Amino acid sequence: MAIIEELADEDVEEAAKATRDCMRDAWERWEKDYHPREAMESDLTRHSAEEFRKSTGLPEAFTLIAKEEGRIAGVCSGHMVGKSGVASLGWLGVAPESRKQGIGNELLEAVEAHVKDRGCHKISLVILPCLTDAVRLLFRRGWVPECNLTRHWWKVDVMVVSKWFD
Ligand SMILES: CC(C)(COP(=O)(O)OP(=O)(O)OC[C@H]1O[C@@H](n2cnc3c(N)ncnc32)[C@H](O)[C@@H]1OP(=O)(O)O)[C@@H](O)C(=O)NCCC(=O)NCCS
Repeated sequence: MAIIEELADEDVEEAAKATRDCMRDAWERWEKDYHPREAMESDLTRHSAEEFRKSTGLPEAFTLIAKEEGRIAGVCSGHMVGKSGVASLGWLGVAPESRKQGIGNELLEAVEAHVKDRGCHKISLVILPCLTDAVRLLFRRGWVPECNLTRHWWKVDVMVVSKWFD
C-alpha cells in the first residue's frame, strides 16, 4: 500500500520527473492519435521542478504524492480558486509499473478530502476523453461529465468532469 503525503521541498525533483515520465507514457499509450505531441511537450514544460517548487509555497495549490517503498509512484496536483469553493485538478498520474493496485484511487480520495477540508464544495478536471483508465476511475469515484468543450486545447474536444461534496 502506498503512503500519500503532501509534496515536500526535498521531493520536488523526483515528483517532476515522475510526472513528466508519466505524461510521456500517457501520450504514447492513449493520446497519440488524439492529441499532438506538441501538446504533451507543452504540458511537460508546465510540470518542471521549478513549477512544482513554486506551487509548494502557494496556499491555494496542492500536490499530493504517493510513495511506494520510498519512491514516488504517483502525483496529483491542482489548486483551489480563491475562496470560491471550487477546486481545479490539474494532473493525476501513476507510474506505469505501479498502476492497477489502487494508488490512483487513493490519491484521488486524498485530494478530495484535502479540498473538502479546506471548504471546497466542488472539484473539476478538464480531461481528454481518450484517457479511458482515468475517466473510468473518476466515474467510479462519483465524478460526473458536466460538459464537453468543442475544439478546445489544440483544437480537440475535451470533457469537464466534476464532483460535488455538498
Ligand atoms: C488514471 C491513472 C492515474 C489510474 O491510476 P491507477 O493507480 O492505475 O488507478 P487504480 O489502481 O486506483 O485503478 C485502476 C484499475 O485498477 C483496478 N485495481 C485497483 N486495485 C487493484 C488491485 N489490487 N488488483 C487488481 N486491480 C486493481 C481498479 O479496479 C481499476 O480497474 P479498471 O481500470 O478496470 O477500472 C493511471 O492510469 C494513469 O496515470 N494514467 C495516465 C495519466 C492520466 O490519464 N491522467 C488523467 C488526466 S490528468
